[in-house]
Amino acid sequence: MNWENLIVNLECVDTLPTLPTVFTKVSELIAKPNVTAKQLAEVIQTDQAISMKLLKIVNSPFFGFSRKIMTVQDAVVLLGFNATRNTVMSISIFRALNHGSTASGFNMKDFWQHSIATGMVARYLARKLHVDAEKAFSAGIVHDIGKIILQQYFQDELEKVLKVVHEKHISFYDAEIEVYRGTHCDLGSYLADKWNLPIPLIEVIDLHHTPGEATEDPRLVSIVHISNNLCKSLGMDFIESAKKQEIDPYAFARLDLTANEVESWLDEIQNEINQAEDMFQNIQ
Ligand SMILES: [Fe+2]
Ligand SMILES: [Fe+2]
Repeated sequence: MNWENLIVNLECVDTLPTLPTVFTKVSELIAKPNVTAKQLAEVIQTDQAISMKLLKIVNSPFFGFSRKIMTVQDAVVLLGFNATRNTVMSISIFRALNHGSTASGFNMKDFWQHSIATGMVARYLARKLHVDAEKAFSAGIVHDIGKIILQQYFQDELEKVLKVVHEKHISFYDAEIEVYRGTHCDLGSYLADKWNLPIPLIEVIDLHHTPGEATEDPRLVSIVHISNNLCKSLGMDFIESAKKQEIDPYAFARLDLTANEVESWLDEIQNEINQAEDMFQNIQ
């Protein structure tokens, strides 16, 4: 099947995963003027599972608050509205897409650990570079969601891609182009668009392998591009034998960053990656 047919087929799928309604409600609410933390907390509390996960994450070392946070309203106050929305979004996306994989060679746990690690490294770099850190974390979490679409709806294509990766020792991205002349970036941005995710996140999903094409938020796309590649080269990849892509020099230039600078942070970056497993336990 080629790329055009893949998208036509996807348009015919009437069981595409949906996001919990609480995420949509939270997004709508924070777009309104004069919204209060109490109102936001009330909406989140309509979904008990999401409320519990939010409290679990807010109390994890990931946020590093010194006291225990007992209520959703306290969590909203401490996080702020945007970070609350982003955290609810990450939990929602995880819930919508974290189902067992049936495609051979695609391990769902490894997939999420790679995504979370990319989010953790993106958050670390964003802090260093004075970019919105929670947004960078969410962007890292979602960057590869197209691969889930591939494994859920196009298993034959996925298996062909994995075969080409192993046989030719090329990157997953290059193998996709060879097999169906498209990539997980197109599939992921299709879903993200259907979900009405924020435009900068759709752009990250679409362009995290080609950051030089970004127009909406090139710094965010560059951060995720670098984080994704760092995670892969530091062993947090879920397709082990795939050839690693080089970091696009555009991404370094766009962030006024040098490879040497990043290298001097490698211990701390590795530390972030090591926490991905704990975070995976908290979010699932
Ligand atoms: Fe990717
Ligand atoms: Fe990735």
